[in-house]
Formats: sequence, C-alpha cells, structure tokens
Amino acid sequence: MSFPHTREYAQQLDREDVLAGYRKEFYLPKGSIYLDGNSLGLMSVRAEKSLLTVLESWREYGIDGWTVGKYPWFHLAERLGEMSAPLVGASPDEVIVTGSTTINLHQLTATFYRPQGKRTKIVADELAFPSDIYALKSQLRLHGLDPEDHLIRVKSRDGLTLDEEDLIAAMTDEVALVVLPSVLYRSGQLLDMERLTAAARERGIPIGFDLCHSIGAIPHQLSAWGVDFAFWCNYKYLNSGPGGVAGLYVNRMHFGREPGLAGWFSSNKEVQFDMSHQLTPADYAGAYQIGTPHILSLAPLIGSLEMFAEAGIESLREKSLRLTRYLMEMIGHHLTGMGFTIGNPVEDDRRGGHVCLIHEEAVRICKALKENGVVPDFRAPDIIRLAPVAFYTSFEEVWKAVQILKQIMEEKQYERYEKKRGVVA
Ligand SMILES: Cc1ncc(COP(=O)(O)O)c(C=O)c1O
Repeated sequence: MSFPHTREYAQQLDREDVLAGYRKEFYLPKGSIYLDGNSLGLMSVRAEKSLLTVLESWREYGIDGWTVGKYPWFHLAERLGEMSAPLVGASPDEVIVTGSTTINLHQLTATFYRPQGKRTKIVADELAFPSDIYALKSQLRLHGLDPEDHLIRVKSRDGLTLDEEDLIAAMTDEVALVVLPSVLYRSGQLLDMERLTAAARERGIPIGFDLCHSIGAIPHQLSAWGVDFAFWCNYKYLNSGPGGVAGLYVNRMHFGREPGLAGWFSSNKEVQFDMSHQLTPADYAGAYQIGTPHILSLAPLIGSLEMFAEAGIESLREKSLRLTRYLMEMIGHHLTGMGFTIGNPVEDDRRGGHVCLIHEEAVRICKALKENGVVPDFRAPDIIRLAPVAFYTSFEEVWKAVQILKQIMEEKQYERYEKKRGVVA
C-alpha cells in the first residue's frame, strides 16, 4: 500500500482519526515529538487526577483511607485488576495489580516451576529482556540447579526475531516451564502466543508470557488461549508513571495454589486481619500479592485505565497499526539509500507497537534526534526504537519526525556527537 507523502495527507489522517481527541488529555513535552511511550508513557490529566484524589484521601482520612474514600486502598489492587482484565482477555479475578515486572516473574516462577524427575529445564530465548533471564537463573540456583545446563535460551536465526518452530522444538520432555515475551523489546516482533501456548499445553508444560511490550498496545486472549500466567509493567503503554505498580495474570485453573512467595497480602481478605500464622491464600489472582500495596504508585493507573475502557483496545490497536505502517512507509520513501533497515516484522499480525530502525550510527543519530526535539530510544548496538502511541501521537508528528531524521542524515548532523550511549539509553 502506498500513501501520498505530504504533510497535508498526514493532517487529513489526523482529521479522520476517531481517537484524536485523546491527545489533548496528555501532557505532551513542550517542543518535542515523543516517540518513547514504549519505555515510559506520558502523564494524562486523568492519571494525575486519580493520583491527587488518592493523596487527598490520605490527607483527609489517615488510616481510614484503607476502607473509605473514593478509591478505598484495601481493595484497590483488585479493582485495578478488574479494570486491566479486558486488556489481557481474562476474567476480573484472574488479574491483580501488584509488584514489579521482575518481582512478579520471581513470584510466578516460584509458583509454577516445579522440577521433577527429568523435567527440570526452563525454556526462554536469547533475545529476552535481561531482567527476565537474571530472575530465571536465580530461581534455578535456588533449586540448586546450574543455569548453564537448565536454562535453555532458544537462539534467534537473525539476531532480531524468534521462530515459533524453534521455540516449540525446544519444548521437550525435559522442560518444566516456558517463559517468553509477547513482543520482543528490541525488534518489536509479536510472537504467536496462541500457537505457543497450544504447543506447551500439548506437552504438559506450563507457559507464561512477559507482556511488557504488548499490554495496552495489543489485544490478548490469555484465558481463551489457555495461558498459565503472564506479567507486565504498567508504565509503558499504560501510562501509569515511572515505577508504577505492575500486573499479573493467573489462569483460573490454578486458583487455590499456594503462592511460591507468600506474604500477608496473599491472604483471603476476609481473614487477613485474624493475624493467623497459617496463611489462607486468596482464591483468585490476589493470592500472588506479597506485602502492602504501593498505593501512591497504583493511583495514576485508575485514571489511565478509565481511558482504555472508554477507547477500547481494539480501536487503539487499529490506530497503532496505522501509525507504524505510516511510519514505515515514510521511512521507505524519504530515507532510502541512507543506511537504514527496518528490523521489525512488517506484517500486521507479527509486529507490536514500535518500529525498530537499524543503523550503524544509531547511537549518534538518537542524540541528534533528541537535540532536534524528537524523543526516540536507543538499544545497543544499532537500534533506534520509534513508538508512535495511539493515544497521543499524531500522523503529522510522524511525518515531521521523518523530515527531521532526513535532515539529520543529509547534513550528517550526527557526526557532532560522541559514539557512546548515555547511562540510561
Ligand atoms: C520486556 C521487559 N521485561 C522486564 C522488564 C523489567 O521491568 P521492571 O524493571 O519493571 O521489573 C522490562 C523493563 O523495561 C521490559 O521491557
């Protein structure tokens, strides 16, 4: 498909966009085109408002804020779980908002990894986010097993993507657990979760997914697919703020299991304050909470999830696909012969919410982009991630960002910068 490559056409796409009205609900950094919502989503007026409401409840009610006020804190994690459930295709009690991505992976591995007989290995992949690999290795060590032998990191054929065939081939009768990403954090490849889950289930292996790069960008059907568990952060596409509390999903077929890592918030809430030393775990995903919820870091998510409920994830995905398709088309048209390649799969059903642009000068190009008011994100050694976000990026901004990039390349502006990444890339 080919588009006219003019600014007027981009403006026309914005006029036709049914979600365009949400843009004014976000605090857009002044003078910037923000294409980094897949690292940290922007603040919305509604997220700010729900945070302020929760702060007020602390000011007004002190300890009673646990049970009174607009958003009583004691059930807030459950309430947010309910609101998150449609984004992952789950029933409300299969989701809880708790912990961080990495902590939730620890919790779920501690719960679902049960090495027995010759089934002792964990399947992951060599392109996984490092924190996931660190967590899985440390869980293996806690079982007295050597990660060198027991963590299978399935290889990529091209250094960017994974082949579902290879992942399935790794699911042998020595495997006790599979943990994979939904969308790869660098290339943006969207894996076929349904197929992978079916393969794992046929072989009797529990399977979990890291949804950090798909939650809020892509619809999921975790329950219908039969996924055992999933975990994610809420600070990327879900715009809950830096370090915002994360989420997890546990399929209801596992309700009643003892959490691998227990704490008093794993408890059935009716008996939690009996203060018994015998834990009665909640009979829903809430059992995988550990300690007191971080209320102030949960609060922005209330306002943010209201926006998702209103706009609908299908509609957001549809716009996100149009934005990334438009961006790829613009890159193809304006930046040919400048040394760029597109690293993400281009098919709609195989790409996530960002475009992965590869260039040997990526680090210096990112610095030049920032200097010119475009906020990208660099992943070593040569990847520029560009994420136009359905809620707040306009087609005209995408058009403009590509013009700026073209000028940087034509004028070799990147040569002014040091070829070294920042501490936070
Ligand atoms: C794919 C993926 N997994 C795991 C993490 C780790 O998340 P956290 O630091 O919130 O535990 C991240 C963080 O960006 C991520 O992108």
